[in-house]
Amino acid sequence: MVFLNGAFLPLEEAKVPVLDRGFIFGDGVYEVVPVYSKVPFRIEEHLARLERSLAAVGIRNPYTREQWRGFIGGIVERQPFEDQAVYFQVTRGVAKRDHAFPKHAEPTVFMMSNPLVPPASALVESGATAISARDNRWLRCDIKSISLIGNVLLRELSAEADAVETILFRDGKLTEASSSNVFIVKAGAIQSPPKNELILPGITYDVVVELARAHGLPLEFRDISEAEVRAADELWVTSSSKEVLAVVRLDGRAIGDGRPGPVFRRMYRLYQDFKHKVMRAGRRESISA
Ligand code: PDD
Repeated sequence: MVFLNGAFLPLEEAKVPVLDRGFIFGDGVYEVVPVYSKVPFRIEEHLARLERSLAAVGIRNPYTREQWRGFIGGIVERQPFEDQAVYFQVTRGVAKRDHAFPKHAEPTVFMMSNPLVPPASALVESGATAISARDNRWLRCDIKSISLIGNVLLRELSAEADAVETILFRDGKLTEASSSNVFIVKAGAIQSPPKNELILPGITYDVVVELARAHGLPLEFRDISEAEVRAADELWVTSSSKEVLAVVRLDGRAIGDGRPGPVFRRMYRLYQDFKHKVMRAGRRESISA
């Protein structure tokens, strides 16, 4: 079952008019919330980011937080599987094609949920490979826009190279990856680019940051050059579906000793423990040491 504009219905019956601005212009925003044992993970943070994305593009938020929570809960309970990735998007609605905003369009809301498959333990153990590319996307990557052609083209480069991600550099500096955030570890310190308009403020990024702080792991936000990424001891990607994953080869060359490093292993454990704590509690939990 999926959700379209207030109703739950089978996927085959969910239809959107071809003049929907999501279809015509990619004019909309989205979210992906991971769900473990039917408990949404960090849902308030995802809803807060959705509100920021909607405000940034001037699309009216059609629902209150409480309604969003209810509809997401409704989608989750209608699926036969426990661990889910709930996808939802809001577009500017259906209107005669014109770049300028329509005066009277109702936002279109679509929601679906697929099984959530975190990286296999073999990949977590061995580490993943990635390639790099120039970040040629627009300058508002902080908005979770459904216009993903830039990300799609960049991701395809790594897909063709049988790699899990494309790590992006803009003007010689690390931004993020095609669908995840990036961290490095150098001399024991966890480092990541600061949040700004060039990267998506990842919910998983925040979890990693909070876990690092709670457990006293050194952490720094700073501009990271391409050379520093290649010379890092460890390289990680983070996202709702990848969780925290070590990248051990970049463009065919080893990162560190070519194996997931000790700081990664620590953070992976902390992340899994926190996730299980949330699942056991059946609700949101704050991070503490
Ligand atoms: N991608 N950066 C980009 C460009 C992303 O698309 C994503 C998420 C992230 C990580 O954000 P989070 O930790 O909140 O998942 C960073 C989602 C999962 C997607 O598009 O499917």
